[in-house]
Formats: sequence, structure tokens, C-alpha cells
Amino acid sequence: MESLTVWGGKPLQGTVHVRGAKNLVTKAMVAALLGETESLLKDVPAISDVEVVRGLLEVHGVVVTEPEPGELLLDPRNVKSANFVEIEVHAGSSRIPILFCGPLLHQLGEAFIPDLGGCRIGDRPIDFHLDALRKFGAVVDKQPNGIHLTAPNGLKGAHIELPYPSVGATEQVLLTAVRAEGVTELKNAAIEPEIMDLIAILQKMGAIITVEPNRVIFIEGVEKLGGYSHRAIFDRNEAASWASAALATEGDIFVKGAKQQELLTFLNIFRKVGGAFDVEEDGIRFYHPGGALKPIVVETDVHPGFMTDWQQPLVVALTKAEGVSVVHETVYENRFGFTDALNQMGADIVVHRDGLAGVTRRVPRRPLEQAAVVTGPSKLHGADVRVPDLRGGFSHLIAALTAEGESTITNVGIISRGYEHFGEKLQALGADFRVNA
Ligand code: EPU
Repeated sequence: MESLTVWGGKPLQGTVHVRGAKNLVTKAMVAALLGETESLLKDVPAISDVEVVRGLLEVHGVVVTEPEPGELLLDPRNVKSANFVEIEVHAGSSRIPILFCGPLLHQLGEAFIPDLGGCRIGDRPIDFHLDALRKFGAVVDKQPNGIHLTAPNGLKGAHIELPYPSVGATEQVLLTAVRAEGVTELKNAAIEPEIMDLIAILQKMGAIITVEPNRVIFIEGVEKLGGYSHRAIFDRNEAASWASAALATEGDIFVKGAKQQELLTFLNIFRKVGGAFDVEEDGIRFYHPGGALKPIVVETDVHPGFMTDWQQPLVVALTKAEGVSVVHETVYENRFGFTDALNQMGADIVVHRDGLAGVTRRVPRRPLEQAAVVTGPSKLHGADVRVPDLRGGFSHLIAALTAEGESTITNVGIISRGYEHFGEKLQALGADFRVNA
């Protein structure tokens, strides 16, 4: 799917089902590489990031099958080195390949990681990953098309303190430390629910991991790990996206599979903006209860703060709020690109290059922190827009669905990196759109 024509103005109403989180499932697939026996992962969404990781596992000899729809059986018993041409095919398509470092070093003694892809929402360096791997004893050789790693003396437990609680770097340490010799102490770790789910998976495989207060994690290395059977945690980011879609379109969406615990911070903000929700046994109903939406001031943060992946769809709802909202993005330097398209549709959003200074928990080297000032309420009208990245793309879709008239949205394929069957889901919610050939 490359382009959609959307006719806005209809509230989205109905039920969508969210399955396993993109940001856990792809990591769980990599974890399977560490086992001596096969692993079964359940609730795997049909998204293109899963396909990229599957391809990369397969070129390394992992046999991947689907016993049932939405399940993956991963058999790592014949893991082998892949040749450069096979790996290169996956260059630039995702950020997950960087997490193959530890598992491949344990299994094969070497790893080649192609250049990374993922959304262009800032520099997205991998210095924390490489510094941690070096502490375990890995030797990193940067090459023109990627990085080559070896571990001449094996991988040994290490004391690592991350400069910032990076999700990816925490996963890198976990996936490497579980089979490194000795104990690893990780300070300033990320503690997102997806990380906790990865820890649960690794524990099922035989790992010994202790999560202490204040972002400290101890990992006692073990010689061997087995496989796992695991149902992935639900996708919080997708759930929050549909919630914002319900609010922005004055609709009513039951998000089946959404759970309250992992969304506490989102739910508080949703309520402050004027949204309503009912927590039920098997999901959460999000709706616009009528009346005016209210402006808010919110800043993105690491868990348990307001996730950076939640701000883009919410900003669309904020264009409808009566007054001035401020959204301060502190995780990435370039995550307001999507607001250009919203302005083209009639929103009033000014992005300031400098955010609030002096908050120590931010990535230390950041020269830029951005604040988007959203003045509402605006009446959006249709426009022709191009999707810049995954979450920004979803916000374009919602904006077009709230706008009066016709919009054409191109580059929509990117949305399928993280939103399963979004076309079918939109249809089920009564959206008026056409897929262009
Ligand atoms: N950072 C560095 N050096 C590093 C690693 C990270 O400076 O070596 C910086 C990043 O540039 C960024 C900040 O640290 O400014 C946070 O990055 P983090 O490592 O936490 O993010 P990530 O692991 O690359 C994951 C999700 C993102 C999500 C972030 C924050 C995956 C595949 N991606 O990225 O999800 O926004 O955590 O929660 O898990 C998305 O789903 O659309 C998405 C971008």
C-alpha cells in the first residue's frame, strides 16, 4: 500500500484488537537465538518489522515456522554465520539488527551487523551499545557497510552504567549478559514494560536476572539457555494511537487487548485533555464524552513517564482543544516533523527548537530539545501529505480523518512497520477512504 485517499469528518467507532508489542516481539525473536532448543512466541503482529527480523534470523540458520496464525516457532539449533550478501539485503530496514550482537557472539564467536534503519527522528547513534559490548570484551571493527564484532577472550560480565536509560542499550546488555561469564551490573537501565517482558522471557529460558530499585539490574551469567513459550505483552503504543484517534474524531473505540497498568500515564493525560475511558476485562473503551477538549502541557520521558511514541497521535486531538498546549519532546531531537502536514491542514502548531533547559535526566549530549506549541481549536481541512515516519504517519491518518474534505496520504507503507492491518482496522471503524493503486 503506497497511497490513500481519505474523506474526513466521520467519528471512528467500533472495536480494534491490538496484539503483541512491536517493541517486544522483535526483541523476543532475537532472544530465541540464545537458546539451545526452540521457542514459541504468541500474539505476533503481522507488521513489516517482524518480517525484517525473521529474514535476518533465517539467514543465520534459525528455522522459523508459524504453527498457528500469530505464532512463531523459532528453532536455533543450526545457527550459522551468514554471508555478507545475505545480511546486506536487510541493511537500512530496521534498528533491531544491532541487538543480534551479543547472541551471535555467544553462538558463533563473531557478528556482522549491517547499517541500521528505522524512523528518521534524530541521530539515533549506537554509542551506548558499542561501549557496553566493549565492556563485555567484544572487539568492534567499524566497516564501510556495517560493523564486525569478535570476542577473542569470550564475553565476561561487566559493570555498566548507561548515560541515559536507553531502551535498546538495556536490551543489548540483557541479551549479552545472560550468557556472559560472571555477573553483570547494569545501572541507569530502561524499565519499560517491554523490557520487563523481555526479562520474563529470558528467565523462562534459564537466565538469572534481578531487577533492583533505582534502575539497577543484576544479571548472573549462565552457560546455557533453553527455549521459551511466551505470549507477548500488548502493544501500548498502538493502543494509545487508537485512543487518540477516538478522541480526535469524536469517536468511540474499544481497544481489545489493551491493559490499564501499562497505560497509567497515558490514561491520566487522556483524561486531562477531556477524553473518557472505561477499563474492561478484555480491553479499554476510549471515547469523546462530548464537550470541549482541554489544552495540556506534557513532556515525553522514559517509563514511567509519557512515552515519546504517544505524542504524535495526541497532538492531533490537541489541535481540537480550546487553548494552548505545549508538548515537550525530550527523547528524540527530530520528532515533530509530522506537524508540518497538520499545519498544512489548518492546525496552528509552532515548533520551538529549544525546549526547557537543565533537566538532568535527558540524554546528556542533546543540543536540541523541542517544544511544540499547539493553539486550538482548529478546524482541519483536507490536504495532500507525505508520511515522514511511523508514528507521525499515524497522526497524518487521524488528522485526515478529522479534516473536512479530501486528503491524499502518500508513503503510507511505513505505517505497516508498526500497525498491524491498519487498513482493515480503519474500515472496521467506519473510516471513509480508498487505497490507491
Ligand atoms: N541513544 C544514544 N545512543 C545510543 C542509544 C540511544 O544517544 O547508543 C539516544 C537516542 O538517540 C534517543 C534516546 O537515546 O535520543 C533514546 O533511545 P532508545 O535507545 O531508548 O530508543 P531505541 O531503543 O532506539 C526504542 C523504540 C522506539 C521508542 C524508544 C523510546 C524499538 C525498536 N524502538 O527505540 O520506538 O521510541 O525506544 O521508548 O524498540 C517506534 O516504535 O516508533 C519507536 C521509534
